Amino acid sequence: MPAQTRVAVVTGASRGIGKALCRDLAAAGYDVVCAARSSSAKGTPARLPGTVEETASEVEARGRRAMAVALDVRGEPAVAELADRVYREWGRCDLLVNNAAIAPPGRALDDSTARFRLAVDVNLNGPFYLCYHLGRRMREAGDGRIVNISSAVAQLPAFGRTSYTVTKRGLEALGESLACELAGRVAVNCIRLELPVWTEGFEATLPEGADTSSFEDPVIMSDAVLWLTRQPLDYTGQILTIGELRERGAVRPRTPVMR
Ligand SMILES: NC(=O)c1ccc[n+]([C@@H]2O[C@H](COP(=O)([O-])OP(=O)(O)OC[C@H]3O[C@@H](n4cnc5c(N)ncnc54)[C@H](OP(=O)(O)O)[C@@H]3O)[C@@H](O)[C@H]2O)c1
Repeated sequence: MPAQTRVAVVTGASRGIGKALCRDLAAAGYDVVCAARSSSAKGTPARLPGTVEETASEVEARGRRAMAVALDVRGEPAVAELADRVYREWGRCDLLVNNAAIAPPGRALDDSTARFRLAVDVNLNGPFYLCYHLGRRMREAGDGRIVNISSAVAQLPAFGRTSYTVTKRGLEALGESLACELAGRVAVNCIRLELPVWTEGFEATLPEGADTSSFEDPVIMSDAVLWLTRQPLDYTGQILTIGELRERGAVRPRTPVMR
């Protein structure tokens, strides 16, 4: 592998923002590890379209290497295995994007405790496992970047969104804390997405015929992540909205869905 080849690991890569990000990171010169549960190779049944293999094909179509990994971020042994494989086969990780998430609907106290626990496992414990198993190695190498994807809901508690708010706020705090631990070696920043981006997962939560004309294309998240990769290492511990990033010229102007 040429010395300058950079490696990115993206979770939630089977569809939506994660898939677009893998494609755009490849176009920017990254070899990409595409991780999510939906896998044609493993025959994992998916409720929504998209597999890690399909995303990997898009990466390869842009001339970069792709590693399709069927991964449930809730399992720490599987995350550790992924980290081992990335370093064994590609020898480095320059960028980790913790993008995979779920937003279980419903009131926290009306159901079993399982729903809340699920959100904590996917949205908070999963990113922590990835930071632990990859971030430690990235710290050794230096010059790494971790980007966590949060939501405006982290700061806007709403009816029926308790587990999402709690876990996204926790993810933001995790990033701010790890930014201190990894200072000078790995920059840890967060994008707090505050506007609707069209994705398969989001669409599936909407009522039939819902107006999505105000939704934007996932490419704006690629702009945001790529801009963060270009910042100096001491630009860390930040939580940025798309609006703030647009003011800095980091994200293209409002972009309707390019389907
Ligand atoms: N779209 C928006 O407008 C919006 C707004 C605010 C914040 N966000 C944030 O942006 C990120 C991406 O959102 P999106 O709209 O692209 O979501 P999406 O379309 O629902 O995709 C979610 C991704 O996460 C993966 N995932 C879910 N559970 C997983 C698990 N246990 N292990 C591994 N992967 C898992 C899914 O793949 P599998 O099912 O194959 O595992 C899928 O690839 C999320 O962090 C979300 O909170 C989105």
